[in-house]
Amino acid sequence: TGFSLLDNGFVNTASTKSSITYIDGNEGILRYRGYPIAELAERSTFLEVAYLLIYGELPTTEQYEDFTNRIRRHTLLHEDLKRFFDALPSHAHPMSVLSSAVNALSTYYESSLDVHNPDMVEENTIRLLAKIPVIAAYAHKKSIGQAFLYPDNSLGFVDNFLKLNFGNLAEPYVVDPVLSKALERLLILHADHEQNASTSTVRLVGSTEANIYASISAGISALYGPLHGGANEAVLKMLGEIRDSGEGVDRFVERVKNKEDGVRLMGFGHRVYKSYDPRAKLVKESADEVLAALGVSDPLLDIAMELEQHALSDDYFKERRLYPNVDFYTGIIYKAMGFPTRMFTVLFAIGRLPGWLAHWREANDDPKTRIGRPQQLYTGPAERHLPEGHVTH
Ligand code: CMC
Repeated sequence: TGFSLLDNGFVNTASTKSSITYIDGNEGILRYRGYPIAELAERSTFLEVAYLLIYGELPTTEQYEDFTNRIRRHTLLHEDLKRFFDALPSHAHPMSVLSSAVNALSTYYESSLDVHNPDMVEENTIRLLAKIPVIAAYAHKKSIGQAFLYPDNSLGFVDNFLKLNFGNLAEPYVVDPVLSKALERLLILHADHEQNASTSTVRLVGSTEANIYASISAGISALYGPLHGGANEAVLKMLGEIRDSGEGVDRFVERVKNKEDGVRLMGFGHRVYKSYDPRAKLVKESADEVLAALGVSDPLLDIAMELEQHALSDDYFKERRLYPNVDFYTGIIYKAMGFPTRMFTVLFAIGRLPGWLAHWREANDDPKTRIGRPQQLYTGPAERHLPEGHVTH
């Protein structure tokens, strides 16, 4: 029938055509719209990459100005939405706060229901790019009991975000260019990764013609899990546990190999990359640079490097072609920047946003898009009947 092919985890099934991102997992190649990731990470800005992903080409100077100005104009959150944060406990995980607040945004912008109106799609795309970093920073501020700051639109995108997170009302905040450059680079590295779980979620939800806020909120929820974006938080927890337990890297790796309690080497392995994740290579360089520039020495970095060396020379990992992925070293950088561990996946979400938007729009623009509705293989009972004289309890 063609329906009987079970593809657990969609290892072999293409869900769509796409012209946004190219990956060759065997060769460790990643390109956005044809441009190699290393070139973009070195020589571009996050908003330029966002433009490239969403519209297909690099912006001209005027297009870039217009794009960044439009984003700047939309950074304010409605004051009522700010009160939304009060209703949540201060220990709330910032990923839950982010996904809830993004979904709530759609209640302010009902134009987003008009999913086939290009002007409305454009307006709400810009709103999401402008407001998600602000929501993310407020989730952070709430978790540490500090007042929310208004966005400072005299600053660029990344610097404004840093100020919203690390500035306070009592003293002026001066952005450290080392932090700014490193964060810009990390956001670029996260900006798209074709049909990963969260992006596929965004496309699936979008295929029902649900609005763009609902779709992006669903993507954030998918990213939250420790096998996906949540891995960056899980890596730091793992490194901290290795340090605190004193069990040592060798013993930890043994436990992973023996699959004791299902423990995995977090930040290792990837569905698509069967060689070194090209993003991980660039992140590792950044980790060295940032820690050196900030004068931070973090024993967790030493543990991470020891773990990597150990795993790369171990048959278990070699046979399964498990290499460090993008999440392995990012947490160490975010920690050095001053972000609490629970913010790490939120930073991933801000980085991935342009990719989600590009994919939602690509699918929405394609007249061939149909509602996503996978098949199943039924394994339950055959037809049966309630017993004679059955009464409801
Ligand atoms: N540690 C130990 N063993 C592993 C790991 C790991 N991190 N990853 C895979 N394996 C083993 C797995 O046990 C299996 O071995 P066996 O054949 O003996 O059962 C084999 O490798 C294949 O693993 P799989 O789970 O079938 O592979 P998958 O493609 O379904 O999963 C993955 C991919 C990323 C979910 C997985 O490698 C993993 O859980 N990694 C740790 C979490 C992580 O770092 N996630 C971030 C992914 S990259 C960016 C992102 O999406 O956020």
